[in-house]
Amino acid sequence: MKTLYWKDDQLYLLDQTLLPCEVEYLVCGTYQDVIVAIKTMVVRGAPAIGVSAAFAMALAELSGEDLQKAAEEIKAARPTAVNLAWAVDRVLKSDSAVDEALEMYQEDMDTNRALGKNGASVINDGDTVLTHCNAGALACVDYGTALGVIRSAHEEGKNINVICDETRPVLQGARLSVWEMQEEGIPVQLIVDGAAGRLMQEGEVDKVVIGADRVAKGGVANKIGSLMVALAANRFGVPFYVAAPKSTFDYQNSIYEIEIEERDPEEVLSFAGCQAAPLGTEVRNPSFDIVPSDLITGIITEKGILKPF
Ligand code: MRU
Repeated sequence: MKTLYWKDDQLYLLDQTLLPCEVEYLVCGTYQDVIVAIKTMVVRGAPAIGVSAAFAMALAELSGEDLQKAAEEIKAARPTAVNLAWAVDRVLKSDSAVDEALEMYQEDMDTNRALGKNGASVINDGDTVLTHCNAGALACVDYGTALGVIRSAHEEGKNINVICDETRPVLQGARLSVWEMQEEGIPVQLIVDGAAGRLMQEGEVDKVVIGADRVAKGGVANKIGSLMVALAANRFGVPFYVAAPKSTFDYQNSIYEIEIEERDPEEVLSFAGCQAAPLGTEVRNPSFDIVPSDLITGIITEKGILKPF
């Protein structure tokens, strides 16, 4: 099953808001359709929104739109993952948006395989690996980054057990990562976010591997909850790895300068469509954490395992 694909000058996006209950594709015929899909998280995950943004530029080009204007609008769809701006700028510099987007589509698949192979070297036979959110095939074109590392170790014949944090508020861990691991036949257990520290304290976690929305000077931005996992891992001596392709690296900014997206309070006020707090409750809903470099054991990339900077 593909996270996204390009066919007959249209972009098909697997609607991740419906998973795991329904498997349905949203067809985008305009760049504005893609912007809405990114904002509403029909497609999500840094590499997947990067490649989708490239195809949004392709749609803009095909319909003769002002590409600079489209680029600004697409980049503003979600602010934290640097892949969005990276992809749009790369297309702007190219001769053909469609060709460039198709090249990025293929590159993402190749990159994740290489990254996965590099990461598998730090995973031992019998390891239990904890992950947060979804940095899997669904967050990329295919294979995944953090889950790509686990897939690669599994393909090497290592027995791996995976623990997925559910990842409130929209449950990417429960709905997407658990689903991907089950499809792959990799043993997986689901925990509530607050249980990660408890399991590490009990020595039940050998490694943590998460993805990233941005790697920059001073640390890494990733899904809210990542910082608490990193702090617990540090306290209990569990190696903490970030898996991210070089397209997620931002060498211009300090990680503390970037915009952290705040999302709709409604995501917190309800759970599975049911009201979860008194009406009118004030909410804070930051969508991403910053994990400081000193809590990170290594950053697994397609080029090797790097030290955070
Ligand atoms: O809000 P999301 O679901 O887009 O957040 C996704 C994450 O935090 C992922 O870990 C990150 O984008 C890396 S995906 C390979």
